[in-house]
Amino acid sequence: LVTELRLRRVLDSRGNPTVEAEVTTESGGFGRAAAPSGASTGEYEAIELPAEEAIAAARERAVPRLEGQVYAGDQRSVDRVLREADDTENFGGIGANSAVAISMAAAKAGADMLGAPLYQHLGGAFRGDEFPTPLGNVIGGGEHAADATDIQEFLAAPVGAPSVADAVFANAAVHREVHDVLAERGIACGKGDEGAWAPSIDDAEAFEVCEEAVSTVEDEVGFEVGFGLDVAASELYDGDAYQYQDGERTLDEQVAYIADLVEEYDLVYVEDPLDEDDYDGFADLTDRVGDRTLVCGDDLFVTNTERLSTGIERGAANSILVKPNQIGTLSDAFDAIELAVEHGYAPVVSHRSGETEDTTIAHLAVATAAPFIKTGAVGGERTAKLNELVRIEENA
Ligand code: PGA
Ligand code: ZN
Repeated sequence: LVTELRLRRVLDSRGNPTVEAEVTTESGGFGRAAAPSGASTGEYEAIELPAEEAIAAARERAVPRLEGQVYAGDQRSVDRVLREADDTENFGGIGANSAVAISMAAAKAGADMLGAPLYQHLGGAFRGDEFPTPLGNVIGGGEHAADATDIQEFLAAPVGAPSVADAVFANAAVHREVHDVLAERGIACGKGDEGAWAPSIDDAEAFEVCEEAVSTVEDEVGFEVGFGLDVAASELYDGDAYQYQDGERTLDEQVAYIADLVEEYDLVYVEDPLDEDDYDGFADLTDRVGDRTLVCGDDLFVTNTERLSTGIERGAANSILVKPNQIGTLSDAFDAIELAVEHGYAPVVSHRSGETEDTTIAHLAVATAAPFIKTGAVGGERTAKLNELVRIEENA
C-alpha cells in the first residue's frame, strides 16, 4: 500500500517550477518522478496548472484517496483514483502536472517493490526485445527559440543504427556537425529550449545544413542516418493560412509543400505538418507520402484515444506522438499506444521542451516496444533519458 505521497516544487530545464512526487509503500518501495512542461502545447491537451496550485489541489483531493488506500504496483487503480480525485475531463482539478508526476512516481515505487527495472514492471515478462530509435533535435526554432527557423524541429533519425548506443552517439555527432557547418557559413548561434541550435536562418538554409551534416555523419558511422521534422504547424497557422518568414501558404499549398520536402530530402518522419484541427489535411498528406514516411500527430492527437480514433477512422497520419503529461497518466498513455499499434500507427514516445532529469519516458518506450523515442540530442535533461536507454540496452 502507498503509505506516503509527498509533493514539492522543483525546477524544470527552463528554470520554471514543476511538480515532483514521491511515493513510499508499506513494504519499503520508493519512487520519485517529476512532470515536464510544453511550450508549443496542443489546444486539446490535459490542463497544466501553476505548480503551486496543482500541488495544493492534489494534496487536498488526491493524497487522501491514495495514502493507505491503493497499491503502488496496481497502476490502473492509482490512475483511476487520480481521475476520480480530479473529477474533470482534462485534469483541470488537480492539474495534469500533479497527476502525471504521481502516476509515474507510483510506477517507480511499484517497480522498486518488485526489485525490477521500471521498463520490466511496465512491460511485463512478455515484453520482447525491441529498442526505440532516438530522434534528436539538432536545429530548431518556432516556439522553442526566438529569431530562428519557422519549422520547430529538424530531427536526426539514425534509422540504420545497429544499437541504441550507436544511435545516441550518431545524433550527438550530427548536432556537433551542424554547429561546424553553421560556423563555416559564418553563422553564430545559441541553442533553443531542447538544446538544438537556433540560428537566424530560414528553413531552406536549415534543410541544406541538416542534409550536409547528416551525410557527413552517415559516412563516418557507416549506417543510415536520415532526418525528419516537427513542423508544429498549429503555431504557424493563423486560422486562414500558414505564415512563414518567406510568405504564406494556403492549406493545399502546405500539403504540397510538405509532400515535396519528403520527396526532396527523403524525410523519414514528419510531425504536425498541418494544424491540429485539420484531420482532412493529415489524411490527404498521409495518402500522398504515408507509404514512405511517418506522418505523426502530436497536437493533432494529444495522446488521447478519442482523438486518435477519429484519426484512424479518417486515415489521418500513420503515427502518434505519446507524451504522458498531455493526457495525465501512464495508463492513458498505454491505452493510446495500444490503440495505435492495433491500427498500424507507430507510437513515438516523447519528451517536452521543458524537462527534468526524470527518465520515465525511456522506460515507457522500451516497455511498449515503441519504434521511436524523441528526446533531444544533447543537454543534461535530454541525456538523462538517452543515457538511461544506453544502460537499459546493456542490461536488458
Ligand atoms: P513542446 O514541444 O513540449 O513545447 O510542446 C515539443 C513538441 O511539439 O513535440
Ligand atoms: Zn510536436
